[in-house]
Amino acid sequence: MKHETIETNVGWLIILTMIVISIGGLVEIIPLYFIKDTIETVKVDGKDTVHPYTPLELRGRDIYMREGCYLCHSQMIRPFRDENIRYGHYSLAAESRYDHPFQWGSKRTGPDLARVGGKYSNEWHLQHLVNPRDVVPESIMPSYPWLTEPLKFNAINDRLKALKATGVPYSQTQEEYQANVERFGKPTADMLDINNAEQNLIDQAQDGNYDGNRNDITEADALIAYLQSLGTMVDFSKFEEGYFAKFR
Ligand code: HEC
Repeated sequence: MKHETIETNVGWLIILTMIVISIGGLVEIIPLYFIKDTIETVKVDGKDTVHPYTPLELRGRDIYMREGCYLCHSQMIRPFRDENIRYGHYSLAAESRYDHPFQWGSKRTGPDLARVGGKYSNEWHLQHLVNPRDVVPESIMPSYPWLTEPLKFNAINDRLKALKATGVPYSQTQEEYQANVERFGKPTADMLDINNAEQNLIDQAQDGNYDGNRNDITEADALIAYLQSLGTMVDFSKFEEGYFAKFR
């Protein structure tokens, strides 16, 4: 059939276009019926190392969204050589499985933050948030001096419950807690217990001393706890090279 016949006959054009689109669709959809999971298994000694945020980190994440940090920072290292050299191992699907909504982003006015956890000290973060130019003179990042205000966390239980409703494994009953002990180990399971959320938040803020002041629990405590957790849940040295490639 001549190409001109197709282009000048609406009937043929519709039918053939639909066939082409269907083939494209089937090629994408059919494989999904044959793979068990689209998320990598990340277990060390039989325990899942990727776990939901602690109550304090979760409040930090709320502040991250409130302040619009995602407008300048992505949290998604793509599997390209230059990104891997600069930021570390490419981001795994498993690493944002408990993020609702995820913070991948697409705008990088500042660097990607997917693995910023552990890169700087808490003091550095505090100074950098209050006035970025104190530590990076040429920085164009805005100052956030109000983050040293007290943190509101009276609704923390409801926040965890809301996430639980979307499938994030925070525990409320004894059975759910036991299942978490099995899955994540006891220390993590304790942190994910909704019944102790408020005390856990206070303890982590005081022990971690993220803002250099043990008496007050500030928004900086929460935000820095969150930043320090980013990208730290998978210890890549525990996996053989190429292990994660098979999930791609
Ligand atoms: C207007 C764009 C912009 C916004 C909004 C912004 N940043 Fe930045 N950020 C930058 C730039 C540019 C840099 C690089 C210079 C520097 O280190 O200050 C940076 C650097 C950083 C770094 C250091 C990253 C590294 O690997 O060196 C962290 C951490 C960070 N920002 C956190 C935040 C947080 C948290 C927020 C929200 C409270 C935020 N940023 C909001 C632009 C922004």
